[in-house]
Amino acid sequence: MARRAPDPVTDLYALVYSSKAHHELSLDEIDRILDAAQRHNDREAITGLLLYNRGRFMQYLEGPPQGVRKVFERIKADPRHGEVAELVFEPIASRKFGEWSMAFRSSSAFGHSAPATDGRTILQRIGDSRGSATASELLSDFWRSG
Ligand SMILES: Cc1cc2nc3c(=O)[nH]c(=O)nc-3n(C[C@H](O)[C@H](O)[C@H](O)COP(=O)(O)O)c2cc1C
Repeated sequence: MARRAPDPVTDLYALVYSSKAHHELSLDEIDRILDAAQRHNDREAITGLLLYNRGRFMQYLEGPPQGVRKVFERIKADPRHGEVAELVFEPIASRKFGEWSMAFRSSSAFGHSAPATDGRTILQRIGDSRGSATASELLSDFWRSG
């Protein structure tokens, strides 16, 4: 059977990167990042999770591949962080964070076990088998290391 060409509208991809904040971020600064994320991500049908641990970020973006690449290009250029390393970009069967334009958790500043809104912990949510196994591993290692 012929392999189907990727569909830029209906295909789903996940991207994970890590980066280093240029300074320890305040809650206000994180709020501003999440505000921008919500605006742009809704428009590009992107959902995901931003983790912050002792000056380092790991972010998981999921959505149509073109939207994911576009949002990631903007994020990479943001002067609030550097050492941006793309770790995963691969197709997924369905979303892990469909309800959030960008969920946020920080182990260092705001407590480690904040539950997701459905009562599952963030680790359970990350490990959700519908997504990319590599992405799950990277995110849970980063989260546990906090
Ligand atoms: C760690 C980090 C994560 C970010 N995540 C997103 C994101 O998911 N989506 C997004 O649009 N912008 C995100 N941003 C912000 C963008 O880099 C950029 O500042 C913003 O999109 C600019 O929006 P504005 O010009 O409309 O204010 C992030 C920034 C940082 C530092």
